[in-house]
Order: sequence, then structure tokens, then C-alpha cells
Amino acid sequence: MQRSSRMGSVVVLLALFCVVTSHLALAFTDGLLGNGNFEKAPKSSDMKGTVVLKSNAIPEWEISGFVEYIKAGQKQGDMLLVVPEGYAAVRLGNEASIKQKLNVTPGMYYSLTFSAARTCAQDEKLNVSVAPDSDVLPIQTVYNSEGWDLYAWAFRASYSVAVIILHNPGVEEDPACGPLIDSIAIRALYPPKATNKNLLKNADFEEGPYILPNTSWGVLIPPNIEDDNSPLPAWTVESLKAIKYIDSDHFSVAQGKRAIELVGGRESAIAQVARTIVGKTYELTFAIGDASNSCEGSMIVEAFAGSDTIKVPYESKGKGGYKRAVLRFKAVAIRTRVMFFSTYYHTSSKDFASLCGPVVDDVKLLSVRSPRRLV
Ligand SMILES: *[C@@H]1O[C@H](CO)[C@@H](O)[C@H](O)[C@H]1NC(C)=O
Ligand SMILES: *[C@@H]1O[C@H](CO)[C@@H](O)[C@H](O)[C@H]1NC(C)=O
Repeated sequence: MQRSSRMGSVVVLLALFCVVTSHLALAFTDGLLGNGNFEKAPKSSDMKGTVVLKSNAIPEWEISGFVEYIKAGQKQGDMLLVVPEGYAAVRLGNEASIKQKLNVTPGMYYSLTFSAARTCAQDEKLNVSVAPDSDVLPIQTVYNSEGWDLYAWAFRASYSVAVIILHNPGVEEDPACGPLIDSIAIRALYPPKATNKNLLKNADFEEGPYILPNTSWGVLIPPNIEDDNSPLPAWTVESLKAIKYIDSDHFSVAQGKRAIELVGGRESAIAQVARTIVGKTYELTFAIGDASNSCEGSMIVEAFAGSDTIKVPYESKGKGGYKRAVLRFKAVAIRTRVMFFSTYYHTSSKDFASLCGPVVDDVKLLSVRSPRRLV
């Protein structure tokens, strides 16, 4: 009797806890920031041509420096300025920035998603910051043939107000030469933990940056420059190029709703370190496939667990599908680094320009029980 009533109060407490936490989560809405796609225009009296004159002229934003408000179809000389989504975007000239404040929960992790299109600068970069974190992301390589890409960047909130700043640190001869920015969205991240069913965290890639429902390009996760917060919790993108985060609404994934596409060949690896026991045997299993995005040909994914490695071939017809692979290894350290990259570089057979590659999903790392001996 005593025991069951105690159990009852535990259940009530748990239920209360759930109500409280779900309420907190609801207070924050994932999606576009206020006027995050710049569809609300500045007053024409606050503009001279395309140049925005006042710091608060663009609804919901504060700007500084040479910022232009660019409408779809607009040209600079012969060059069409690419507006990634909808009616308009902003363009950040030399040292220009846009800023917006947002209420957040200190200690929680958030991921920003935004689209950026390169225009005329040689070496275009974007400095994304939420104090005290900031990173300069190269937006030089255009992965998508449309002329723009979606990028993700994550931060851990230190204060209850996050001041989100996108800043072009460039100094070009033509002060207008800078990136076009559009579709700025945010998502609260809930970094998953390792369990007794999987020694890797977020191994199915379900937790990650916001994917704009109307875009069918996925989101690039740039290489972590230092040991920063990852928009793909628990994973680090290493080397030079980004990997792409894709969703099942627009692509084929092996399991669940999300997966990663290795679009940078040997120049982009994704890694995670797991706790292991020296001398124990483990199995790293994973799915390799294609995203159903016309990425055709012979693919190979190289998987590593410490110094053990496996090369898994996959013949892609570009129409979706996957196979599973296993790497069995004996741990030689208390931490084992698991890593994946694509051996080859691929481009879409639709436009021969968009970078693409094999999809990795549903990764599992588990120790293998030593087989029982029959006596
Ligand atoms: C990036 O922006 C932050 C915040 O505005 C600033 O503190 C930092 O110095 C900038 N970094 C570069 C390289 O411009
Ligand atoms: C997505 O597209 C639909 C139809 O074109 C539009 O009504 C909606 O506002 C768009 N959503 C976003 C977030 O852009």
C-alpha cells in the first residue's frame, strides 16, 4: 500500500515535470526570426536606390554600415543578384551588419539557419555571432547550382537575450560587394545522450538545425573551426568543406526524418568520439545510400573506428536506396574516434554543378558480447 502510493506521487511529480518542461519548450518557437526573410520592406523614404539609410529601417532588424535591400530580379551591371527566397533579401557590404535580439534560455543550445549567396567579392565570408561566440564562415564554395546555400551555425546561450549579428568582415574595392542574406531561422537544440542501445549520441542525426519547409536543398553544416558548438549535436565536421543535413520531406533517408549527405568528398569528414573499454570488441553499423537527388555513380564511404577502417561501396542510380555495413573492431583506448567521409567527389547529373554524395544514416556503436563457449 505504502509503496504503491509512493509510486503514485512519483508519477504525479513526473507528470508535473513534463508539463513544466513542455511549457518552457513551447515558449520558444522554432522557425524564421522576426522578418527573417526580409519580406517586410523598409519605407521608400528610408532608402536611396537599394541602400538602406536608417539603422532601424528594416522592420525587426537593426543594421549598421552599407546594407542594401535587394528585390528579386535586380541586377548589378550584367550580374543578376540572386534572392534565395521570396520577394527580397539584404546585401551586406564592407563591414556591414544586421542584428536582432531574441529571448532565449541561458544554458540551452540553439542553431541558426540562414541562406547566403555570394556576389562579386573574391573571398566572401560571413561573421556570425551571438556574444560571446562568433565564427567567420567562408561562403566561397557554392554547393548548389542556384547560386546560394543554406548554412547552419550553433551557439549556447549565455544570457537570456541573444543578440544575433551577421556581419560581413570583408573590405573590397567595391564596398557593395558582399553576400546576400535571406531566410534567417532558429531552432532550439536538445542534444541527445548516449544510451545502452548506442554508444554514439545523435547517431541517427535526428537532432539538428532548422530546415526551412519550403527549401529542397538541405542545410550545410560548415566545418567547426575550433571546438565550438555543433549545429548537429555530438558530431564535428572536420577538414575543409561542409556536409549537408537533409530531411525526408525532400530527400531519401535510410531511417527517421533526417540524415547527412557527404558532399565534400575527402575534404569533409564527420566525427564523434565514443567511450570504449580497452580490449573489448565493438561493432560500428551504419546505413549508406543516396538521397534520391540525381547523384549517380559508384560511391564509397570510408568509415573509421580508431585506426580500424572499412571502405563501403554503393552503386547509386540517384533514385534513393541504401545498404547496411558493419565495422567490427577491438578498442585500443578508452576513447575511440568514429569518422566517415566520401572517397569520391560527385555532382548532380541534373545540372553537373551541385555538389552531392553518399548519404550516411542510422549509425550504431555497440559492444559485442563474447560468444558463450559450449561445454
Ligand atoms: C565578428 O563579430 C563579433 C561581434 O560583432 C566581433 O566581436 C568579432 O571581432 C568579429 N570577428 C571578425 C573576425 O570580424
Ligand atoms: C512556403 O510556401 C508556401 C506556398 O508557396 C507559402 O504560403 C509559405 O508562406 C512559405 N513558407 C515559408 C516559411 O516561406
